[in-house]
Amino acid sequence: MEQKKKVLCVGLVCLDIINVVDKYPEEDTDNRCLSQRWQRGGNASNSCTVLSLLGASCAFMGSLSAGPVADFIMEDFQKFHIDVSLVSEHTQCALPSSVVISNISTGSRTILHMNRNLPDVTVEDFSKVDLNQFKWIHWEGRNAEEQVKMIQQVVIYNSTLPEQQRITISVEIEKTREPLYQLFPHGDVVFVSKDVARHFGFQSAEAALRGLYSRVKQGAVLVCAWGEKGADALGPDGFIVHSDAFPPETLVDTLGAGDTFNAAVIYTLSNGGRLQDALTFGCRVAGRKCGFHGYSSICKNFADK
Ligand code: ADP
Ligand code: FRU
Repeated sequence: MEQKKKVLCVGLVCLDIINVVDKYPEEDTDNRCLSQRWQRGGNASNSCTVLSLLGASCAFMGSLSAGPVADFIMEDFQKFHIDVSLVSEHTQCALPSSVVISNISTGSRTILHMNRNLPDVTVEDFSKVDLNQFKWIHWEGRNAEEQVKMIQQVVIYNSTLPEQQRITISVEIEKTREPLYQLFPHGDVVFVSKDVARHFGFQSAEAALRGLYSRVKQGAVLVCAWGEKGADALGPDGFIVHSDAFPPETLVDTLGAGDTFNAAVIYTLSNGGRLQDALTFGCRVAGRKCGFHGYSSICKNFADK
């Protein structure tokens, strides 16, 4: 029997050092945290965690350093049953890390990120991948020029196959960096962030979708999440689809809410679900996530999945 095809996420893995506080600190003061923890982070890595918790077979492709922190990251990937065979080790590099201030009074997360010298995945690395094992590949927009070349390899691969065997391509354009915008025309599904939408002058998800849709390729779906306002999507039929957010009883931790949303949308669409169901599920799972620290509780709340 054919092996179950996987979802591959390409992008960042880093160490998140999370400081939980009940009041955002003032500059130049000495504070005590409520708790402190290490967590595997990075958008693509977080989305893998959620995909796996939801029951999808998934793989992560990205770079990692060597040493005890990299070991912590690797063990955590394994704990979540994420395939790490496409992780490349760079022994001479430092692992990127984020210091996060997570405020339980508001749910806000303030991120200070640093990547000293760990390179991103290249098209050369990607050309060695056996594409046959995947049904969906998601790129977190980073080294966009190189990522476009990776996507072109998938397009060539797809052109030899009947439609139902093709790999669906999704991209995330989250940061307001000019080079990332070249990714718009390369996804079957394109996730654009509120930050990027605002950068283009749009004050709502709907306005952003209408204004940015001309940048995506024919037939593509553009998705825009907007925090507590939920999320909207626009496909080739020209109708905006919307889901309200599902706020948790108490807002605790919004770190990775967007990565969680993306994972739940990909999960639904990659299993043949409709766009409306994907958006609603994305908001439900991301909303639940905001009620807990980390990601593990997602599976407890969606045990039926
Ligand atoms: P991020 O800032 O992590 O990229 P977004 O603001 O794009 O996340 O939100 C992604 C999704 O997470 C939203 O569509 C929503 O469903 C959920 N979400 C985020 N913040 C909240 C919140 N404060 N209350 C309820 N849901 C939220
Ligand atoms: C959350 C996150 C964190 C990481 C940061 C990198 O979306 O992926 O895990 O530290 O963003 O920008």
